[in-house]
Amino acid sequence: MIHINEMPMDFEPRRKILSKISEQWSNAENLIAMSEFESAFLCGAIKTFRPKKILEVGVLDGGSTSVILQALEDIGEPYEMHSVDIAAERPFKKGVETGFVAKFAKEKIFSLRGTHQFHLGKILPQILDDIGGEIDFVILDTVHSLPGEVLDFLAMIPYLKEDALVVLHDVAVNQHEYHTGWCDAYSNAALFSAVTAEKFLNFDEKNFFRYPNIGAFKVSTLTAENIYNVFLTLILPWKYLPSQVELALYYHFTENFIPLSFTKFSKRLSK
Ligand SMILES: C[S@@+](CC[C@H](N)C(=O)[O-])C[C@H]1O[C@@H](n2cnc3c(N)ncnc32)[C@H](O)[C@@H]1O
Repeated sequence: MIHINEMPMDFEPRRKILSKISEQWSNAENLIAMSEFESAFLCGAIKTFRPKKILEVGVLDGGSTSVILQALEDIGEPYEMHSVDIAAERPFKKGVETGFVAKFAKEKIFSLRGTHQFHLGKILPQILDDIGGEIDFVILDTVHSLPGEVLDFLAMIPYLKEDALVVLHDVAVNQHEYHTGWCDAYSNAALFSAVTAEKFLNFDEKNFFRYPNIGAFKVSTLTAENIYNVFLTLILPWKYLPSQVELALYYHFTENFIPLSFTKFSKRLSK
């Protein structure tokens, strides 16, 4: 089932944190890699589902990390948040730490009621056991190209709480940015289409004819029972081949419920 325009929107947390970080960076708006509409969808989901254990995969400047922290602080209840990024140094900004905006916000703006931890320079399967189970909210926003987010979702399933909400950014970037070379950025689009779950999409009134670029789905036992549909998205062309070490890590987390070995699969692809 797809819920259209049923996710309440919350524009406040982004506006609040922007006004504070703008004192530090005049281009603060550009340090959040989501539009105002997309941040409002994400914050509306947080406000509605009131998560306790949040996993963010894909940090970049840490703009959205700060927005999420503001949304969680606004709720005013205890929480535990983890932010994972493969890059310890912010891609394309030499000498700058990944997540620097959120690091600044944590030091100078918030006095956090909850806990927040960065896991930088790591991929998700390297850190899942430390993070542990009972995750009830995920924002997945990494490479957008296969195998990308599909592998991360397959790996994290056993760590998700039933009814966990998974928010996917850039579910339509392959269409919106087709002519700028992003036509193969469809990993979140493929995941969102294939997963068996209740789904949420809001259309932007100002841009009604454009398919939304952010979506969410609610995990249930049906999601796990039909996980093969997600696995089958990996039959679409891959943009890159993770290293054998990375594939072995993902395989370790998925072998219990997916019998086909990624490593064998990828060896065939690399010939
Ligand atoms: C689109 S940016 C994230 C933007 C951020 N969510 C925001 O809204 O401000 C993508 C980030 O994902 C990271 N990334 C790429 N592949 C990854 C992977 N396999 N695991 C974790 N992070 C990854 C990149 O280093 C980059 O910082």
